[in-house]
Amino acid sequence: MVEVRRICCIGAGYVGGPTCSVIAQMCPEVTVTVVDVNEDRIRAWNSDSLPIFEVNTPTKTFGIGKGRAADLKYIEACARRIADVSSGCKIVVEKSTVPVRAAESIRRIFNANTKSSLSFQVLSNPEFLAEGTAITDLKNPDRVLIGGDETPEGQHAIQALRSIYEHWVPKNKIITTNTWSSELSKLAANAFLAQRISSINSISALCEVTGADVEEVAHAIGTDQRIGSRFLKASVGFGGSCFQKDVLNLVYLCEALNLPEVARYWQQVIEINDYQRKRFSSRIINCLFNTVTDKKIALLGFAFKKNTGDTRESSSIYISRYLLEEGACLHIYDPKVKAEQIMHDLTQPTPSERHDPATVSRLVTIVTDPYKACENAHAIVICTEWDVFTELDYERIHKAMLKPAFIFDGRRILDSLHDQLQHIGFQVETIGKRVNQRIPFTASGDRSEMDQPQQLKKIKL
Ligand code: UDX
Repeated sequence: MVEVRRICCIGAGYVGGPTCSVIAQMCPEVTVTVVDVNEDRIRAWNSDSLPIFEVNTPTKTFGIGKGRAADLKYIEACARRIADVSSGCKIVVEKSTVPVRAAESIRRIFNANTKSSLSFQVLSNPEFLAEGTAITDLKNPDRVLIGGDETPEGQHAIQALRSIYEHWVPKNKIITTNTWSSELSKLAANAFLAQRISSINSISALCEVTGADVEEVAHAIGTDQRIGSRFLKASVGFGGSCFQKDVLNLVYLCEALNLPEVARYWQQVIEINDYQRKRFSSRIINCLFNTVTDKKIALLGFAFKKNTGDTRESSSIYISRYLLEEGACLHIYDPKVKAEQIMHDLTQPTPSERHDPATVSRLVTIVTDPYKACENAHAIVICTEWDVFTELDYERIHKAMLKPAFIFDGRRILDSLHDQLQHIGFQVETIGKRVNQRIPFTASGDRSEMDQPQQLKKIKL
């Protein structure tokens, strides 16, 4: 069997850094080297303040597949470089999430550039760690997936990588497959997780108009072991570097392979996510008497989830943009995200629109104190589930706000405080529940159809 003595990891980001630290700790006989084109990042890893910036397989921003297909230019550049500098027997492991058949592209680059002194095997070994729990996920994975060639050489390479993981992962948790299954499983796993969130978010919309409570529904369905209780938390929509990117990649792949029905099915997961962000933003505007123009709104939380400073694809960006388009003055607070990052995210042009930096800097203020954000505000909008937001002095906040004072809980973190908040005088609006049982009126002054008991009966709810 090939014995692995040295591992070189290309990319010192969220995946490369933690993965190699765990391998080095668990396999003391293996020399692990991590390289990156970004010298600052390497310096930071060697210092006491670790950098956490992802080494990306970004989505293409131009040309065919723009906004959806993975941009393989970095993978290709790595493959060419490896072919250039290597000799002997090498196992090349794809760990970043790559589109299905990326291993094939890497193989072809090697075949076209290989010197007689070099032999290689390409393996797919996708990473399933989540941000904020990277080390736990790596040390206690649900499974490790290794895909490779069905040839004897491919199987030897799989065994070699397997022996690294066997230092700390039980044998029955190491799954070996062919390369394509492994690559597709990573996209499919993320697509399934994203789909669960879109499913519960679609139910949250129904809850808000029927009087059901999405938390109760999630609990009730989650106790069915076939469904399971995790990833059923209704929210302002999923963010992060993986879900949207991977689902769009899957959609693109299906279209390219002439499977339009399958593509449309997965596209809907993204559409519900966009809908949820828009729906939450519209609810804020509707509650604030149909206009937020020039109104101060405190937006609490900008990271895509708690315990990370990462804002990639965060729903906060989208909700901020919708409110800015309506002329709201946003005062944004996040315990971890830097002010420059927030301004960068809000002024970055998206494929469909440009955001005028002058307007953004006129309407957006970044604050380092949540109480300051709420002073003289019409509403508080909670976008990230940071624990500190449950510990604020809401009595003090209410005193300093304009009345009626609204709280929009996009994460269901204030459920246990609802009575108290209402007692203080807040109007609480929350995802997937109609807290105040208000009777909304339509523009003409009629009761909205869904609120009339006889209508509810008619549609057999
Ligand atoms: C995800 C996958 O979980 C991980 O396996 C994969 O390797 C990388 O992508 P990550 O992006 O770090 O990890 O975050 P995750 O915890 O999965 O959350 C993603 C988004 O979904 C967040 O915005 C989170 O707030 C949201 N979410 C998650 C919900 O809205 N509801 C839930 O029930 C769970």
